[in-house]
Amino acid sequence: PIDRKVDSVLKLMTLEEKVGQMNQYNGFWDVTGPVPKDGQAAKKYENLKKGLVGSMLNVRGVKDVRALQKIAVEETRLGIPLIFGFDVVHGYKTVSPIPLAEAASWDLEAMKKSAEIAAAEAAVSGLNWTFAPMVDISRDARWGRVMEGAGEDPYLGSQIAIARVKGFQGDKLDEFHIAACTKHFAGYGFAESGRDYNTVDISDNTLHNIILPPFKATVDAGVLTFMNSFNELEGIPATGNAYLQRNLLKGEWKFDGFVVSDWGSMGEMIAHGYAKDMKDAAMKAANAGSDMDMESYGYLNHLVTLVKEGKVSEDKINDAVRRILKVKFELGLFENPYKYCDENREKQNIGKKEFQDGVLDMAKKSIVLLKNENKLLPLKKSGQKIAVIGALANDKTSPLGSWRIGADDNTAISFLEGMAAYKGNQITYEKGADVALGEPRFMVETKINTTDKSSFDKAIAAAKQADVVIMVLGEHGLQTGEGRSRSDITLPGVQQELLEAVYKANPNIVLVLQNGRPLAIPWAAKNIPAIVEAWHLGTQSGHAIAQVLYGDYNPSGKLPMTFPRNVGQVPIYYNYKNTGRPSTDNPESVFWSHYTDIENTPLYPFGHGLSYSTFEYSNLKLDTKSLQKNGKIKVTVDVKNTSSVDGKEVVQLYIRDLVASVTRPVRELKGFELAEIKAGQTKTVSFTIDEKTIEFYSANKIWEAEAGDFQLFVGGSSTATLQADFNYSN
Ligand code: IFM
Repeated sequence: PIDRKVDSVLKLMTLEEKVGQMNQYNGFWDVTGPVPKDGQAAKKYENLKKGLVGSMLNVRGVKDVRALQKIAVEETRLGIPLIFGFDVVHGYKTVSPIPLAEAASWDLEAMKKSAEIAAAEAAVSGLNWTFAPMVDISRDARWGRVMEGAGEDPYLGSQIAIARVKGFQGDKLDEFHIAACTKHFAGYGFAESGRDYNTVDISDNTLHNIILPPFKATVDAGVLTFMNSFNELEGIPATGNAYLQRNLLKGEWKFDGFVVSDWGSMGEMIAHGYAKDMKDAAMKAANAGSDMDMESYGYLNHLVTLVKEGKVSEDKINDAVRRILKVKFELGLFENPYKYCDENREKQNIGKKEFQDGVLDMAKKSIVLLKNENKLLPLKKSGQKIAVIGALANDKTSPLGSWRIGADDNTAISFLEGMAAYKGNQITYEKGADVALGEPRFMVETKINTTDKSSFDKAIAAAKQADVVIMVLGEHGLQTGEGRSRSDITLPGVQQELLEAVYKANPNIVLVLQNGRPLAIPWAAKNIPAIVEAWHLGTQSGHAIAQVLYGDYNPSGKLPMTFPRNVGQVPIYYNYKNTGRPSTDNPESVFWSHYTDIENTPLYPFGHGLSYSTFEYSNLKLDTKSLQKNGKIKVTVDVKNTSSVDGKEVVQLYIRDLVASVTRPVRELKGFELAEIKAGQTKTVSFTIDEKTIEFYSANKIWEAEAGDFQLFVGGSSTATLQADFNYSN
């Protein structure tokens, strides 16, 4: 029935109005203020009234959304409602952990819930479409946008992508759910040398086996929209890439939603050297299947002419518009354009307790205990002198992280505030060094500096007096994200010097890291007894970290991305290929794939994370060692909590395909379970393996399972050693 409704609207539309639906405007002007008289805002306003706008981004709040929707509905000829998009990436006003942190929870239900909270808060603010989830797999910690994704693994990334889409969109698109947008299609996470927007040059093998799976997973999960990407692929910018958008996405995968371009990416095809001017760019984007133009104005200015000149067929325009109208129908905007515009609902819901509790829960689940020597953690609850050091400990903006444009600065619970909720210990605080935000802060890198030597001295003096020192170090939340690639991924500024100086005074240090990407911290990993990866955890950050440090919450997070020893190892990832010259038994040989100045292994591998509980794996069993076509293998393993505290463990299953038509990684994640295991108890965890598990994009350029021998590993990280073998015959 929706298709019929869509067609009935389409029939009424002029070519100009159709092109209008394909135009998305950014709306940062004061939309409820006086009507803009000149400049771009005035032009946008005029075009809105003429029915030449299909969507707005960055207009938010019921009052503003209603004002523009009213123009679209009441003043345009056909009254087609607008769809309002916004980057609700990890929360709207109430901020959840950055997506990379959430991924560390490996808790799909929790991530779905987190997306649901974000959707609900955005929906009550008038929004109906989020530009999330970002599902770009990345192996490069230099890239600032790794904070926004689920890390390096296609299997974990796919499961998380599905959970997020389901959270945003819900089972039915009621007034608390919004359309999701899978982005960035495709390859953006493989920018050369981790430099944002840089060239992408990858093999077909990597594209299909590593990058595309999470995208495909969201199509199967019913995502309503896609966003293309700034980068090129095989020399063709994603926005103008017909293979990606027409052949694969809308063809093979049968995606029936619409594709929005990334901001200005149509115009950027000129700089790429793929289009000679905006008209050429508009032609290439439209023909390639990019349905809506975000802020290039290419469609609005050229598409009607291009159709008249026969350079873009009206069929293609109809296809794009049908897709856009269909999503608007699905959201219920035709039935009620003000469905998301209820001031009371907005007031009652923004920032409400249920949301705060939800993001706190997510934040605790996202924390990864990297190291804990001599049981330094959890902290004793009384009788301790604790020195907290580091400017980030006292920061209420940084924990919100990057890409949380709906939230206000200074709204996070700082680490110090979180610690203050526990009264039993005596806490002193010294910043040790300053965090300085650049200006304008979205352009300039945030620096962590020391203004004067005396702040170092004060930190050292505080450490000397303390039983335990907690150092809160890392990256400011705005030091990560779009446009914030770094060539050096050690602790920024003078923090390493500060850490070493304090260590000399008192080595009993808990290092709390706040960062948006894996950092290279080899000295800390060797010398500091306890290290807690606390990312940028959002609004409730301080409470979450304090509850983990004090043992009121037993951490269970596992790294979704490898931590390198140094930046020279990047890209480093667990699912690498063996090469023709893997390690050798001959200690004298240099002719194998290695560095002469650092080992090949990472600092902390993918899947690593400790708990206050300890777990032992045993009894790995396969009910058959021979997988047949259409058959299954049941894998079971016993996991014992050998400690006296209840805990959770992410039990991970990896396989290796020993010989194939194209070389395969040394191991690939193929299953995981977040198992709750009481102190002293043993849980039997089971997995099922079938043909789907071993399928890959083969030399035949299709997804298929090839006959052969496989190894299987189960354990608590990607370095799991418990092994069993099986074979597959078809
Ligand atoms: O959604 C984003 C995208 O990820 C990067 N460019 C801008 C878009 C809209 O804000």
